[in-house]
Amino acid sequence: MGKILDGKALSKKIRKDVKVETDELIEKYGKTPHLVVVLVGDDAASETYVNSKERASKKAGIKSTVIKKGSSITENELISIIQGLNEDDDVHGILLQLPIPKHIDSEKVINMIDPLKDVDGFSNHHVARLNKGLDALVPCTPLGIMEMFKAYDIDLEGKHAVVMGRSQIVGKPMASLLLKANATVTVTHSRTKDMKAITKQADVLVVAIGKAKMVDESYIKEGAVLIDVGISRIDGKLYGDIDFEAVKDKAGYITPVPGGVGPMTIAMLLKNTLTCFKNIMNQ
Ligand code: GUN
Repeated sequence: MGKILDGKALSKKIRKDVKVETDELIEKYGKTPHLVVVLVGDDAASETYVNSKERASKKAGIKSTVIKKGSSITENELISIIQGLNEDDDVHGILLQLPIPKHIDSEKVINMIDPLKDVDGFSNHHVARLNKGLDALVPCTPLGIMEMFKAYDIDLEGKHAVVMGRSQIVGKPMASLLLKANATVTVTHSRTKDMKAITKQADVLVVAIGKAKMVDESYIKEGAVLIDVGISRIDGKLYGDIDFEAVKDKAGYITPVPGGVGPMTIAMLLKNTLTCFKNIMNQ
């Protein structure tokens, strides 16, 4: 049985540290870090994520506001909301929960967020900086995965890291971070030929494809580090993209679902909110 990468326990510790730092920052600046989450439409999974983000923020002493809008909102209305938040000195982090309805150009709206307040690091400003290997606000999921590697002393230098999935939210920033950590990086996607021949070479395999239990033992090398970003709900139970039971004995390390990557993502959102707050206060 591979070693479990316990995101739940690690995120608890990080959130405790965040609470301590939040209290220090409030004391120092006489202001409370404030995260605003904008939720558009009625995606059930998004509502669950936003609730968890709000609860975690409050527990960490971070002020949290959720702006909820129906799916009939226009692009211009949404842009005005973002502009209002950009100008509001009482707001330090802005998160636009994705996906948003298709009639709105998400790229356009994401890039309206002031880079100083872009807690997700999804704007072109931070994407470009991350790709150049410069300091940036880094998307929370890949950042949380890097924190797990650090906490468990998983050395990435010279390792072959394979990222399954090329999304803006996970796959691409994950590849940039692994490259920055001196791994040799391959990204696979839905058009990749002979997928298993590639994934079987992976010392570290990050799976973010959104297909429940797709990755079984035939995809992996003995002793590999397996990171499962997927969350699918089937008959009320949560599953990752990796078939945990099928691979657990072959893996060197493995993240469970739930209790692996998910809680780390939320912990990193809190950290990024404090980073935004400090950057704004120290301008
Ligand atoms: N939708 C799924 N994951 C995320 C995330 O990390 N941030 C935002 N804003 N939307 C998401």
